[in-house]
This record gives sequence, structure tokens and C-alpha cells, in this order.
Amino acid sequence: MALGGYKIAKGCWISVFPFVTHRDPRFFENPEQFDPERFADDRAEQIPPYAYFPFGAGPHVCIGNTFAIMEMTLVVSTILQRFRVALAPGQREVEPVPDVVIRPKGGLRVTVSKRSAFAVAGTGKEGGHNTEVR
Ligand code: HEM
Repeated sequence: MALGGYKIAKGCWISVFPFVTHRDPRFFENPEQFDPERFADDRAEQIPPYAYFPFGAGPHVCIGNTFAIMEMTLVVSTILQRFRVALAPGQREVEPVPDVVIRPKGGLRVTVSKRSAFAVAGTGKEGGHNTEVR
């Protein structure tokens, strides 16, 4: 049998790696660049079907897909309204460790500074203290 021009022997295991496809310049402009706007409505339409599949695809696609996206949006925006998160001094470049999910080797040290109530209200003013967490 052949798939995409590759011969597949009977009994072979085939795996797909979202990490690789999600960084393929055929599908994503500047794939290594952190660019959340690539998922904005007008640009997301340009992503070919099955080029972005963090929740799998097909009959076994993740049933928590939309819940997870909504939850993550709420959690991240709620935290960032209240805290500034920055890389801790001395934190080296992240080395990814492949596991069930990809994780940063040795953890990721950040500093968390509390924003003031004014910042939460959207005035742009900030205050608070630094607390290092892991
Ligand atoms: C960021 C969060 C999540 C990610 C990245 C994720 C990713 C995935 C992936 C890659 C699959 C495998 C799809 C396949 O076999 O082709 C899957 C399946 C599944 N996920 Fe998630 N998932 C997430 C959150 C959730 C949540 C919150 C729930 C439940 C509330 C959930 C429930 C399931 C179930 C039940 C399946 C099995 C579906 C089936 O085999 O028919 N997931 N998920």
C-alpha cells in the first residue's frame, strides 16, 4: 500500500506528530514564531484542514476540544489580568522533553508579580510584589 508516495508494509505502525506538522512552513508562516494571531478568524481560515490538530481528528477527535479551549482562554486571561508572568533571571532557553505531552526539561522558572486592582480594572497602572514560583 502507498500513502502520500510512501510504501507502507503490511503490519506497520504509523504515527502522526502534531509537533512536526504544526511547525511545517508549508502550512504556517514563520512556524517557530509565537504568533497567536495566526489563529484569528481571518487568518485561521487559511490553515489547511488537518494541518493543525492538537485534539486529533476523525472519529476519535477529542470530545473535550471546545471545553478545553474555553477553559484555557478563561484561565490564562484571568491569571494575566491579575499577575505579570516573566521568565526568572537565569532561566535558560526551554528544552522540550517529549512525553505524553511535551514539557520543559527541568521545569520553567518564572517570576509572578501581582498587578494592582487598577490594572485589573484596565487602567494600565500596576503595583504589587514579586514571588518566584515553579
Ligand atoms: C488541552 C486539552 C486537551 C488536549 C490537547 C486533548 C487532546 C486529545 C487528543 C490528541 C485525543 C486523541 C484523538 C485521537 O485518538 O485521534 C483526545 C481524545 C479524547 N479526549 Fe482530549 N484533549 C484535551 C482535553 C480534553 C478534555 C477536557 C476532555 C473531557 C472533558 C477530553 C476528553 C477526551 C476523550 C473522551 C477522548 C477520546 C475520544 C475517542 O476516542 O473517541 N479531552 N484528546
